[in-house]
Amino acid sequence: MPSLCVFGAQWGDEGKGKIIDRLAREADVVVRYQGGANAGHTVVVGDETYILHLVPSGILHPGKVNVIGNGVALDPFKLLEEVDKLHARGVHVAGDNLRLSSAAHVIFQHHQRLDALSERWKGAGRIGTTGRGIGPCYADKASRTGLRVADLLDPDRCRERLGAALAEKNAQLTRLYEEQALDPGRQMERYQGLAARLSEFVGDTGAEVRAAYAAGRRILFEGAQGVMLDLDHGTYPYVTSSSTGVNGIASGAAFPPNRIDRAVGIAKAYCTRVGEGPFPSEDTGPDGERIGRAGREFGTTTGRPRRCGWFDAVAVRYALELNGAEGWVMTKLDVLSELSEIRAITAYRVRGARRESYPAELASLRGVEVEHEVHAGWQEPIDHVRAYADLPRRARDYVEQIEERVGSPVLMISVGPERDQVIPRGL
Ligand code: GDP
Ligand code: IMO
Ligand code: MG
Repeated sequence: MPSLCVFGAQWGDEGKGKIIDRLAREADVVVRYQGGANAGHTVVVGDETYILHLVPSGILHPGKVNVIGNGVALDPFKLLEEVDKLHARGVHVAGDNLRLSSAAHVIFQHHQRLDALSERWKGAGRIGTTGRGIGPCYADKASRTGLRVADLLDPDRCRERLGAALAEKNAQLTRLYEEQALDPGRQMERYQGLAARLSEFVGDTGAEVRAAYAAGRRILFEGAQGVMLDLDHGTYPYVTSSSTGVNGIASGAAFPPNRIDRAVGIAKAYCTRVGEGPFPSEDTGPDGERIGRAGREFGTTTGRPRRCGWFDAVAVRYALELNGAEGWVMTKLDVLSELSEIRAITAYRVRGARRESYPAELASLRGVEVEHEVHAGWQEPIDHVRAYADLPRRARDYVEQIEERVGSPVLMISVGPERDQVIPRGL
C-alpha cells in the first residue's frame, strides 16, 4: 500500500472512520484532504467510541502521523476541542503525530453565521447543511478573501486580513440579513488566543507527505463526505463544497495525482442521506424506518435522523468508476439481518427511458423512477462472522449479486461497528 485513497461512495456516513482506523494499522501516514468538521467519523475500540470531526482516523494507533491537509476547512476551536477530548481519554496527540497545513483555510464565526442565514434565506430551497460554516469558508477561499492557518499565526497579517474580511461580512450581516455585526476586535482576540496552541501542529504538510512517500512510507488518504456530495460530481446543488474523492487529493493534500497508487470506495449494504436533495432509492415506509433503527442512523455531527433507503447500484457504480477504484468495502451488512426481503436499485427510469448510468444533470432526477430487484433476507445475526464462507448463503448471494450489479469487487465486508468486525476479501 504505497498510497491508498479511501473515499465514501454514497452520500456520506458509509463507515469511513471504522475502515480507515482498520487500514491505518498498515499505514504510516493518514491524511485528511478536504471537508471540515461537517464530517463525523466514528471509530469503536472495545467499549470506547471516538467521534472524529477533523483529526484523521489513524490517531488511535500509536506511532502513525496524522495530517490535516491544506484542502481542509479548519475550525480551530473544534480542532482543539477534539484534541482535548482525546487527551482526556489518554490518546497521545502532539506535534509529532498530528500535523496541520499552514495553508488550510480557517472557519470563522462569520462563516458559521452566514451558513445558517443563507440556509434561512433559501427557505424551501435550503441544502440542509451541517451549519459548520463549510460553504461560506470555501466560498471565501475561491473569492481570495479567506484567511489561512499561517495568517492566524501572524498577528499583524491576521488583523489586516480579518479586518478587511469583516468589513464586507458585517455589511452582509447587517444590510442583507438585518443581523448584528461582529466586533473585529473581539474576533481578533478570539482567534488570536488559539494561535499559540495551534502552532505546535503547523507545518508544510504537503512537503512532509511527499517526503514520506519518497522515503517509502505508506500513505492513506481519508476522504470525508461521499462522492454523491462532491461539489462537481454529486447531486449539485445539494452537495458539500469540496472534492470528496480522489479528485480532492492533488489540490487538498499537495500530493501529485500520479502518485496516488490505489483507490477503494466504501458503501453501506443499503443507503442513507442527511439533509435535502435527491435520493432515488429512499424508502420512507416501514422498511426504511426499520433500517434506520437497526443501523442507528442518526447524524454523527448534527444528530439529525438520516434518510434511509436501499442500495443504489447506479450511484455506487458511478462513484467507483469516477474515482478509478479497484474495488470497495461493503459496510453494515449486519443491519439487514432482520429483513425478510431486501431491495436493491439496478437502474433508473428518467422520463420513461431506462438508464444504468448516473445522470449528469440533477434536473433529470426530478421524478426519477427506480427499477429494483428483490433479494431474500437471511434473517440471522452475522455480526460474529469473520470468514466469508461462514456467512449464510443468502447473505453471500446478496453480496455477489450486488457486486455483479456494481461491476467492482467487494474487498472487505463490515458486520459491526467494532474494529475487528470485518470479513476480509482481498483488502
Ligand atoms: P463515516 O462518516 O463514514 O465515518 O461514518 P459515521 O461514523 O458517520 O457513521 C457510520 C456509523 O455506523 C457509525 O456509528 C459506526 O460506528 C457504525 N458502523 C460502521 N460500520 C458498521 C458496520 O459494519 N455495522 C454496524 N452495525 N455499524 C457500523
Ligand atoms: P461524513 O464525512 C453525511 C451533507 C449535509 C448537507 C450537505 C452540505 O461524516 O460522511 P455542508 O455542511 O457540508 O455544507 O452540508 O452535505 N454532509 C454530510 N452528510 N456525512 C457527512 O460527512 C456530511 N458532511 C456534509 O448534511 O446535506
Ligand atoms: Mg459521518
